[in-house]
Amino acid sequence: MSRSTSRREFVKRSAVLAGAVGLGAWRGRPLDAEPEAGAGPGPAPRPLRILILGGTGFIGPHEVDYARARGHHLTLFNRGKTHPGLFPNIEQLHGDRNGGLESLKGKRWDVCIDNSASNIEWVRSSAALLKDAVHRYLYVSSISAYSDMSTPGMDEDAPTFTYESAGVSRDAKKLPYGLQKALCERETRRVFGARGTVVRPGLIVGPRDPTDRFTYWPVRVHRGGDVLAPGTPADPTQIIDARDLTGFMIRLVENDAGGTFNATGHSRGMADLLKGIRAAEDADCTFTWADAAFLAAHDVKPWSDMPVWVPDTRETAGFARVDIRRAIGAGLTFLPLAKTARDTLAWFQAQPAERRAHLRSGLTPEREAEVLKAWKSRAEG
Ligand SMILES: NC(=O)c1ccc[n+]([C@@H]2O[C@H](COP(=O)([O-])OP(=O)(O)OC[C@H]3O[C@@H](n4cnc5c(N)ncnc54)[C@H](OP(=O)(O)O)[C@@H]3O)[C@@H](O)[C@H]2O)c1
Repeated sequence: MSRSTSRREFVKRSAVLAGAVGLGAWRGRPLDAEPEAGAGPGPAPRPLRILILGGTGFIGPHEVDYARARGHHLTLFNRGKTHPGLFPNIEQLHGDRNGGLESLKGKRWDVCIDNSASNIEWVRSSAALLKDAVHRYLYVSSISAYSDMSTPGMDEDAPTFTYESAGVSRDAKKLPYGLQKALCERETRRVFGARGTVVRPGLIVGPRDPTDRFTYWPVRVHRGGDVLAPGTPADPTQIIDARDLTGFMIRLVENDAGGTFNATGHSRGMADLLKGIRAAEDADCTFTWADAAFLAAHDVKPWSDMPVWVPDTRETAGFARVDIRRAIGAGLTFLPLAKTARDTLAWFQAQPAERRAHLRSGLTPEREAEVLKAWKSRAEG
C-alpha cells in the first residue's frame, strides 16, 4: 500500500466528532515570523558514536551531513540497495532487518537512531540486540501514530493507535502504518525506558523526498499560469523540512534527551504555503481555489492528487494543527519556507530527465487543466 493511500485510509479511520475548537488561534503563522535555523552545524560538545539504522534514503543523508558536521562518528546499517556508494568514507554495515542483524553483533555505540522501521518485528529484534550495546535509542515514528485526528492542538499525550482503535485483529497479516508506528514506539519504550526517545514527524519535505508530495507545489508554481489550489485558503498544513527534523534529532541525542516529541512545522494555511512558494520563486502564477466538495465530485483526491492538503473537517481538524511546543523547547528550529521551496525546486531540476518526467504526487498538467476547466464552467454556469 502506498504511503498516500495509507494516509487517506488513516485519516478516514480517525475517530470522529470530538469537539473541534475554533480555527482562529490555529491559523498559520506569517512566514516572516519563522526563525532561521538556530544551531549551525558547528562541533557538538562531545562527539558521539552513532549507529543509524537506514541512513541512505530520504532523511538519512541529511542526518548524516548534519551529524558529520557536528563531529560525530557514524556507522550506517542497511542492505546496501538504496543509493549504494553514497557515503564511501562512512562505516557501513550490511545486513537485513528481516532476520539479518549479524553484522551489528559484538559492537557498541553511544546512540542508535532507528530511521527505517515501520514494522514492530524490526524494532523488536534490533532493540533486543542493542539493549546493552547502545546508551540511547531514538525511534523515528510519525504523527500517523495518533488514533484520533479530530482535536486541534494534540500534544504528545494524545492517544496513539492500538489494535482495538485501529480496528485490526492481532493476527492480521498486514497492519496499517499508523498502528505499526504506535507499536514500534511502545517497543522502544518497553526495552529502553528513559533511554528511549521517540520523534513523531509530520509530513517531511525538502530535497531528496522520493514522494514528491511537497515537491509538486514548487515545481507546479514554477511552471506558472493558473494553478489549481485545493479547498479554502485557510485550510491548515503542517510540514517539516528534513534538514530541520534531522538536525533536531541529532541535537536531541547530543543532549541525551528522552521522551516523545511531535516534530513538524508551524501550522499555516494552504494559501500561506502556496503564496510563500510563489514569492520564493518569484513565479508568475495565479491560484484558482476549488472547494473540497467539487474536488471530491471530480475524483481529485486530497493528499495524493492535491499533495500536503487534507480537507479541514471535524474528523481531520487536528491533523495539521499538532502542538509542537515541546519540540521547540527542546531545540527544534525552522528553515524559512522560501529556502525549503527553492532548494526543493533546485534539487528536482537537477534530477535526471526520467525522474523529472513524472511527478510522483499531484495532477498531471492535462488533468489539472481539465479540472480547472470544469471548475470555471461550473462557476460561470
Ligand atoms: N516521509 C514522510 O513524510 C514521513 C512522515 C513521518 C514519518 N516518517 C518516517 O520517517 C522515516 C523516514 O525514513 P527514510 O526512508 O527517509 O530513512 P532513511 O534512513 O534515509 O532510508 C531508509 C533506509 O532503510 C534501509 N532499509 C530498507 N529496508 C531495509 C532492510 N530490510 N534492512 C535494512 N535496512 C533497510 C534503506 O537502505 P537499503 O535499501 O539499502 O537497505 C535506507 O538506508 C520512516 O521511519 C518513516 O516512517 C516519514
